[in-house]
Amino acid sequence: MALHETQQDMWKRLVGEAAADLVEDGMLIGLGSGSTARAFIQALGQRIQAGLNIAGAVASSQASRDLAASFGILCADLDTYPDLDLYIDGADEIDPRLQLIKGAGGALLHEKVVATVSRKFIVIGDITKQVTQLGHRSPVPVETIPFALTPVRRRLEALGASVQLRQKNGVPFVTESHNFILDCTFPAGISDAPRLDAQLHSIVGVVETGLFLNMAQQAMIAGPEGLHTFHV
Ligand code: A5P
Repeated sequence: MALHETQQDMWKRLVGEAAADLVEDGMLIGLGSGSTARAFIQALGQRIQAGLNIAGAVASSQASRDLAASFGILCADLDTYPDLDLYIDGADEIDPRLQLIKGAGGALLHEKVVATVSRKFIVIGDITKQVTQLGHRSPVPVETIPFALTPVRRRLEALGASVQLRQKNGVPFVTESHNFILDCTFPAGISDAPRLDAQLHSIVGVVETGLFLNMAQQAMIAGPEGLHTFHV
């Protein structure tokens, strides 16, 4: 256990370790991004040091690639491994149907690509990520090409979103694919996520959204009562 580990950190560690236990010899693994995925990568690294022999890994962000390397997991790209066995990643919100909001860390585009090439996607999180309806707590990140920033922003506002250009250190945050992120808050929550996602994708200049719908097949959630798993 790390020094000064909070309860939430402990839940992330527990769920990260439980997810790492599902990895089998010979698997090609997709590595998610963010603090919960970090706990998984760390636990996976420990299993590899103890003798687990995965066939390879692809990371959804530079941060996860670097972290994996520090635990002895060398990542390749999707040209080398275009199909993966298992993708493990966290989320900002997880609803009962396993619809997700992701992207608070800014890696949503690469995360979604890795999720779609993986035979199985297990989302991991602590109980604070569970919601009954998406959108009440986390904004939906919308990755947008810089050239189309203002027109896209106006179209998002016309859909009822309150829109914030994501910043980092006082300047617009730039994704690994050199795009901007518009964080969209829907004050009444999101009652029809597939419809909203289709509307967002119909805006020219939008590259991808943080709505991950019908992608995860399983969720593992850690909380005060331990670990529980649910499927769609
Ligand atoms: C990264 O871009 C995100 O999609 C993360 O998976 C998500 O924000 C969850 O991150 P934490 O595990 O740090 O809460």
